[in-house]
Amino acid sequence: MSLILAPTPDNIARAADALRSGGVIGLPTETVYGLGANAYDERAVANIFKIKGRPSHNPLIVHISSLERISLAADPDAAKAAEPILKKLGRFIPGALSFVIARNDKIAPSVCAGLNTVAIRIPSHTVAHALLAQCEFPVAAPSANPSNYISPTLAEHVAAQLDSALEIILDGGACQVGLESTILDLSGAEPKILRQGQVTAEQISEATGIPATSLLRKEDRILAPGMLREHYSPRTPLSLLGKIGAIPARCGLLYLNAQRPPTLCANVHISRALSASGDLEEIARNLFKSMREFDSLGLDLIVVEECQPVGIGRAILDRLTRASAKTVR
Ligand code: TXA
Ligand code: MG
Repeated sequence: MSLILAPTPDNIARAADALRSGGVIGLPTETVYGLGANAYDERAVANIFKIKGRPSHNPLIVHISSLERISLAADPDAAKAAEPILKKLGRFIPGALSFVIARNDKIAPSVCAGLNTVAIRIPSHTVAHALLAQCEFPVAAPSANPSNYISPTLAEHVAAQLDSALEIILDGGACQVGLESTILDLSGAEPKILRQGQVTAEQISEATGIPATSLLRKEDRILAPGMLREHYSPRTPLSLLGKIGAIPARCGLLYLNAQRPPTLCANVHISRALSASGDLEEIARNLFKSMREFDSLGLDLIVVEECQPVGIGRAILDRLTRASAKTVR
């Protein structure tokens, strides 16, 4: 039985009630679908970790409806200190940007994996916004996939793997971004990007005046806890087009531009373009859905054509590199 519900006012109120009483639900955002629970409720949060099979050292992002409610999750002094930079980042909030800041003591400690900081996101998706506006608590929500699998971009993806564990899955349609949010750490001496996403280093640099190289600098970068080298992986081995060796019997090819299919000599069982014109935003939107579909075809190998490392292309390459890590090894 599917629990997918249309996002009517009644169903959104029902989802808020489920959260209030300690339940775990599936909710849409513009990046990917999330697995939500009341971030103040240690038992509900424990269920997220259990349902996902997520290691307890990997902290969750909490979601609120607007920046005015930042003190639901952040330490008040830290929130005050972050006001100027958050104001500069205003055009990405709400949106596909999460920021890390000192936390308040109402957040259940397991949400933050014991850290004294919390990652906060304000999604722009209208259904997520309507739901969060009814919650007098922040909603902890990792992507709604089993740990390490591909993030879901449709309500059906959530239902296919987690249905029996959830009270409700709110259907918000296909995610418009298709990749997880950019994570910007504001808790250290200098802001650092911990995870790339639709909001790029260049955009953050332009808005804040901080050089992109400094935002991305690796040597002194604290890696986001729980960020694994192998992640977002289909069960089928996956390789980047430029890195394949021998091509096995049944191979699936995902390429960038419908007008420019690459020539992969033999054994291509199925191929699909991720965009009609090579548009990076469209490629991002279609990538996870296509990876999931190809993963269900019993292929020996999924080959994905690399995009240029510009704009959201960097986030796409980041996800593909992680998805191929198991195969490369
Ligand atoms: O787009 C998204 O961000 C989606 C949607 C549902 O909002 N959520 C998402 O959550 O991708 P998740 O759990 O898959 O990614 C959370 C990541 C952690 O793995 C960690 O790297 C980082 O956020 N993170 C969370 N709390 C942190 C903290 N206090 N300090 C540093 N990094 C943190
Ligand atoms: Mg995830």
